[in-house]
Amino acid sequence: MEKGMLVLGLVAIMVVGVVVVVESSVEGEEVSYDGRSLIINGQRKLLFSASIHYPRSTPEMWGSLIGKAKEGGIDVIQTYVFWNLHEPEKGQYDFSGRADIVRFIKEIQAHGLYASLRIGPFIEAEWNYGGLPFWLHDVPGIVYRCDNEPFKVHMQNFTTKIVNMMKSENLYASQGGPIILSQIENEYEMVEHAFHEKGPPYVRWAAQMAVALQTGVPWMMCKQYDAPDPVINTCNGMKCGISFPGPNSPNKPWLWTENWTTWYRAYGKEPETRSAQDIAFQVALFVARNGTFVNYYMYHGGTNFGRTTSAFTTTSYYDDAPLDEYGFIRLPKWGHLKQLHEAIKSCSNPILFGTQFTLSLGQQQMGYIYQRNSGECAAFLVNQDDTKSVAVIFPNSSYELGPSSVSILPDCKNVVFNTAKVNVKNNTRLVTTGKKFNESEMWQEFKDIIPTFADTSMRSKTLLEHMNTTKDMSDYLWYTFSYQHESSNSKAVLSVRSAGHVLHAFVNGASVGSGNGNHEKVNFTLDNTITLNNGSNNISLLSVTVGLPDSGAFLERKALGLRRVRIHDIQNSKDLSNHRWGYQVGLLGEKLQIYMDHSSSNVQWRNFTSSNNPLTWYKVRFDAPAKNESFGLNLGSMGKGEVWINGQSIGRHWASFLTSQGSPYQTWYHVPRSFLKPKDNLLVILEEQNGSPLGISLDIISTI
Ligand code: GAL
Repeated sequence: MEKGMLVLGLVAIMVVGVVVVVESSVEGEEVSYDGRSLIINGQRKLLFSASIHYPRSTPEMWGSLIGKAKEGGIDVIQTYVFWNLHEPEKGQYDFSGRADIVRFIKEIQAHGLYASLRIGPFIEAEWNYGGLPFWLHDVPGIVYRCDNEPFKVHMQNFTTKIVNMMKSENLYASQGGPIILSQIENEYEMVEHAFHEKGPPYVRWAAQMAVALQTGVPWMMCKQYDAPDPVINTCNGMKCGISFPGPNSPNKPWLWTENWTTWYRAYGKEPETRSAQDIAFQVALFVARNGTFVNYYMYHGGTNFGRTTSAFTTTSYYDDAPLDEYGFIRLPKWGHLKQLHEAIKSCSNPILFGTQFTLSLGQQQMGYIYQRNSGECAAFLVNQDDTKSVAVIFPNSSYELGPSSVSILPDCKNVVFNTAKVNVKNNTRLVTTGKKFNESEMWQEFKDIIPTFADTSMRSKTLLEHMNTTKDMSDYLWYTFSYQHESSNSKAVLSVRSAGHVLHAFVNGASVGSGNGNHEKVNFTLDNTITLNNGSNNISLLSVTVGLPDSGAFLERKALGLRRVRIHDIQNSKDLSNHRWGYQVGLLGEKLQIYMDHSSSNVQWRNFTSSNNPLTWYKVRFDAPAKNESFGLNLGSMGKGEVWINGQSIGRHWASFLTSQGSPYQTWYHVPRSFLKPKDNLLVILEEQNGSPLGISLDIISTI
């Protein structure tokens, strides 16, 4: 390509900026940046990055996940840091097992990849309480995420703790380690206005606090247009290729921290996914427009084990990502993006060291050209029209651009990749029924106790807020009272208004109905006809949370649980909200740790009688299949609850919550191989509704 052929009629829209060096006192080469890219070891870099969250898989899976990401053309692994996982109680830290962040970063390093550490420490992430430990709630005078001393003290403590831990292991690139980038806060711009004058100073403080930690690598703030220098503001979303206005200084590079590869599943939200073509289109456009760093959120979503999901999020997380929940490559997504990365990487030199020109090729067609003085040239020919193909002339050859597509020409002549053309075969998940647990003799059961007012020791004359009462030690909170019914009419209506999330109501020990909210509307009302004894009646209302909220301003003020309780019949209506209430946090089975092997002596397990019993625990023992396969527990026959394998919770299950198409949001629950031992595994399942354990099977998951 002759240089002169292109320059005529083109408009230069970008001038390479000044290098900004991040101050650091540590030894080693600092990571810096300029208006083009991050600069590592003195070199500009064009980087593809993949979000893989260490607690959402197991240490045994990390190596394989990172290896598959590398094979897919990924340079950087990005993870959040999960504060409430690491500091569940104030000052008591856990960095073991799935929480072993140092091991995870070292695994990244061992694969020769870089790491991007999003400390937050507020992270959202569909993670319980957005990553904040619940104990923060009881810190006097605290208001999260604003110019509030108590919050800032704790945020600084944790951030410093993590940074020091990384430093002491020499994990920053400035020390020879893999970490090239860090994040402070998370999409704060979305809530900043709610804090009025307490917002902007917090942003400045957070930036200064982070920079003062002297990591020797740049800090970023995602979705924070006014991120103070030298912190880089970055883009999050599905359409940053089109929508990102660019960083707030010409000296900062264009970074895309969250390119959503699909959408997480949540109860009450219609399942949606995203095509490989659309992802590739936006990535190519972002790079064409100046971008030099793109992170896929998530590249591997994984599993929300235990009680780690946020409100109404499924246990399976971003299963439609390029690596599925089980760690299998998902095609065509993974393969199409791999080819995209190769095509873009073959344009690296002109992108990183050339000058960018744009060329209008039609109403919705545009050429983005990067050219070096040496004549090296790469072009991205973009058709933003999603309805039709358009033939364009560039510079004097004709190219057919498909609808919503980017053609990549690493030599400004030959198209090596078109984002809308998928050359990779599809694969699909294959589920083979494995071990069936369909005989009643296999199972034992334990019916949990439905407490009456007299059984409780915690009392109040008001309806207590759910989260502040359980302190997130359990999903379950019993609200009980004794009700005096003086009428010959035994029928009445129990009317309960709940701020969320689920309610199971019992009258004199018998189930009288359930209600629940959903991801889009967490509150609900239950109005059920009940039968009362003449005289005293025990009303026991079990309020259940399905993960704490993870987004929005003033998280500390959010309220869940029962708000108003009434009993009415034709003659009377009694508001019982300010009655004498008795409370119990958690279920008896939880208190007995019924899911642990060592609990058995305390628990009176009985032979399985029948399904249809709300609040029942079931257990079965089994030997693991000999082959080294991936397993999903089919819980399609169950209602709602939680499930443990050898004492480790694999998450909440809720197959009775159906999509508008009438299918469960999630039927199979990932059982990591490392949770199993060869013989005598213990599976314990809590059922809140009336599901049948006889339909459960341990299935083999693979792809074809
Ligand atoms: C973003 C947020 C992430 C995650 C994502 C959706 O707005 O920063 O933490 O919640 O949405 O998966």
